[in-house]
Amino acid sequence: MKILVVGGGGREHALAWKLAQSPRVREVIVAPGNAGTGLERRMRNAEVAATDIDGLLALAQAEEVALTVVGPEAPLAAGIVDRFQDAGLRCFGPGAAAAELEASKAFSKEFMARHGIASASYAVFDTLEPALIHVGRQGVPIVVKADGLAAGKGVTVATTLAQAEAAVRACFSGRYGKAGARVVIEELVSGEEASYIVIADGDRYLALASSQDHKRLGEADTGPNTGGMGAYSPTPLITPALAERIEQDIIAPALAGLEAEGRRFTGFLYAGLMIDDDGTPRVLEFNVRLGDPESQPILMRLRSDLLDLIEAALEGQLDQVDVTWDQRPCLGIVMAAAGYPDKARTGDPILGLDSLEENPDIKVFHGGTANNLMGDVVTAGGRVLTVCALGKDIAAARGQAVNTANAITFEGAQFRNDIGWHAIIRGLGDLFA
Ligand code: AMP
Ligand code: GLY
Repeated sequence: MKILVVGGGGREHALAWKLAQSPRVREVIVAPGNAGTGLERRMRNAEVAATDIDGLLALAQAEEVALTVVGPEAPLAAGIVDRFQDAGLRCFGPGAAAAELEASKAFSKEFMARHGIASASYAVFDTLEPALIHVGRQGVPIVVKADGLAAGKGVTVATTLAQAEAAVRACFSGRYGKAGARVVIEELVSGEEASYIVIADGDRYLALASSQDHKRLGEADTGPNTGGMGAYSPTPLITPALAERIEQDIIAPALAGLEAEGRRFTGFLYAGLMIDDDGTPRVLEFNVRLGDPESQPILMRLRSDLLDLIEAALEGQLDQVDVTWDQRPCLGIVMAAAGYPDKARTGDPILGLDSLEENPDIKVFHGGTANNLMGDVVTAGGRVLTVCALGKDIAAARGQAVNTANAITFEGAQFRNDIGWHAIIRGLGDLFA
C-alpha cells in the first residue's frame, strides 16, 4: 500500500523510514519531507505544507494513499483527522477535540485537575495586570507558559522576577501570536524529566519504550529551552514499577477522561513527566503526537512492524498485538543550525553525510534540511539532523553518536556532547554503590 506521512522533521523522517520497512508498504510519500526523506528507497516527497489540509487531502486522494500518519501537532489541532475521516480516508492521530489537550495548556491543566492527574499547581490569565500581580505574589522561581502552540518556545522557567515579568509581557505583546493571548503560570516542580508515549485508541493503549529528551540548548542542561537537543531510549529512570504507576495514575485516567468528555483519543499520546526524588511522576505537558527527537531513538529500537501497530489502533484491536524492541539502547544527538533556537540561519552546506560508514546501528535522520539549486544538502531549519546510534549501553551509544556527529560539519553547527548524561552518571553510581 501507499502511505502518506505529514511533516518534514526528524520525527517524520524516522516515521517514514520505519513504515517503509513494512513488507506491506510499497511507497511512503512525505509532505513536505526534507532532503533526507527525498533520498530514501521507497520514499518520495510531495511539496505540500504540513498545515495545508486541503492540499494534503487532495494529495491523498490523487495518490490513492491507504493511510495517512500525521507527525506534528499543528495539523492535528487544525482538525486534519476529522477532515480526512469525513472524506472517508484513514488518518492516524487524534481529532481536533482531543488534540486540544496539547493545543491549549489552560485546557490541559483544567483537564488534569478534573481527572485527578498530578501536575504543577497553576493559574490562568487573559490580561496583563492580574498576571503580573500573581507573579509578584508567588515570587520566583516560577514558570510562565503561552497557552497555545509555540513550537516548544513559549515556556520560560524564570529564576528572577524581571525574567518572569518579561515572559508575561512577551506573551501579551503578541510575540507568540494568538498562542500568547492567555498565559498559564505554574509552580516550578523539580526532579528529572522523562517522556512516556503510548499508542492509543479510546481506553486501549500500548506503551512504547520510555525515553528522555534534553530540552536545554547547552550542555549540563543550561541555556534556553528548545524543541529538544537529543534523546535516548529506554531511560533507566523509568523502572517497570514506575511505568506501571505512570500508566495507572496518568495514561489510563487521561484516556478515560478524554473519552468521557466526548473527545475520544486515537493516536500517539505523549506524557512529558517530571519525576521527583521520591519517584512520584507529575505531568508537565501532554502532547498528542510522537516526540521529536524522542521518536528517532524509539523507532530505531522498534522491532515490530509499525504499520501493524497503527492498523491495530485504527481497528480497535490494540489488545491483540505485542510490541518487540531491540534490547540495546539507542541515543540520538540533534545537530542544530547556527542561531537556533532564536532565529536559525539557513542555507549552510552540510558536509560529510556521503562519507559516513555503512553501519546498521547508526542512522542520521534529517530534519531542517533541503537541497539547494546545485542539489547539495543545506540547512533549512532549526533542528537540522538527529544522529542516532544503538549501543551495548547508553555510554557506548553516545560514543558512536558523538563520533558520527563529529564527522558531519556545517557552519555554526550546535550539538550537545552530553546527551544521556543523567543515565550515564546513574550507571556509574550503581557501579560504585
Ligand atoms: P512544556 O512545553 O510545558 O513541556 O515545557 C517545556 C519545558 O519547560 C519542560 O520540558 C520543562 O523542562 C520545563 N517546564 C515546564 N513546566 C515546568 C514546571 N512546572 N516546572 C519545572 N519545569 C517546567
Ligand atoms: N521533544 C519534545 C516534544 O516533542 O515536544
